[in-house]
Amino acid sequence: MTLQTTEKTRSVEEAIESRHSIRKFKQEAIPQDDLNQIFELVRLAPSAWNLQPWRFHLITDTQLKEKLQDAAYGQQQVTSAPAVVIVASDMEDTIKNLAETVHPGLSQERKQEEVANLSGFFGGMSIEERGQWALTQTNIALGFLLVTIQGTGYASVPMLGFEHEKVKEILGLADHVKFAAMVPFGRADDEGYPHHRFSLEKIVKYH
Ligand SMILES: Cc1cc2nc3c(=O)[nH]c(=O)nc-3n(C[C@H](O)[C@H](O)[C@H](O)COP(=O)(O)O)c2cc1C
Repeated sequence: MTLQTTEKTRSVEEAIESRHSIRKFKQEAIPQDDLNQIFELVRLAPSAWNLQPWRFHLITDTQLKEKLQDAAYGQQQVTSAPAVVIVASDMEDTIKNLAETVHPGLSQERKQEEVANLSGFFGGMSIEERGQWALTQTNIALGFLLVTIQGTGYASVPMLGFEHEKVKEILGLADHVKFAAMVPFGRADDEGYPHHRFSLEKIVKYH
């Protein structure tokens, strides 16, 4: 896969270190090959039982972005970005298609067993409970997305400051769908703020 980007692809370390939330973007469309490259990598994120409950909605249409910005309390980065990814989590769709999540290398018998186990486990939960569970998995894909966007030479800002019900209405999504974030992205036209993070002593304990 080749990148059409003019900026070099970054290493994982460079991508993580250089990532800052960016809220002002250059007005340049993102080539389809770059979008494909980003989502090819993001889909490799891990999830429990490999359920992959994430679903991505990519918005480039100006009017739709304006509506999303309204739903996001007018936050300007939404229309500044050439593309906005809505990182959604759809556990009900996942449950309906459990057989797709089972590894194709397993025997028919083992596949059926897996599907029965998963159906039993999630069937014992409410739609809300399993929706929340799935969101913990979709957040892993969100992390992958932020690093991949940066690694591909672009910049982004993850956002949860928006009215979820309004966004569901704009995109025609079912009630049970949950959101990990709205992610405007494109070429940075700003540097963002310097990192402010806790010390290792505070967050890492050796036992
Ligand atoms: C889940 C999530 C939701 C966020 N929501 C918003 C938001 O609605 N608007 C915004 O401007 N920034 C939002 N941020 C960005 C954070 O403020 C930012 O990531 C944090 O201050 C660290 O700064 P950095 O991303 O530049 O390292 C959000 C970040 C995350 C991870």
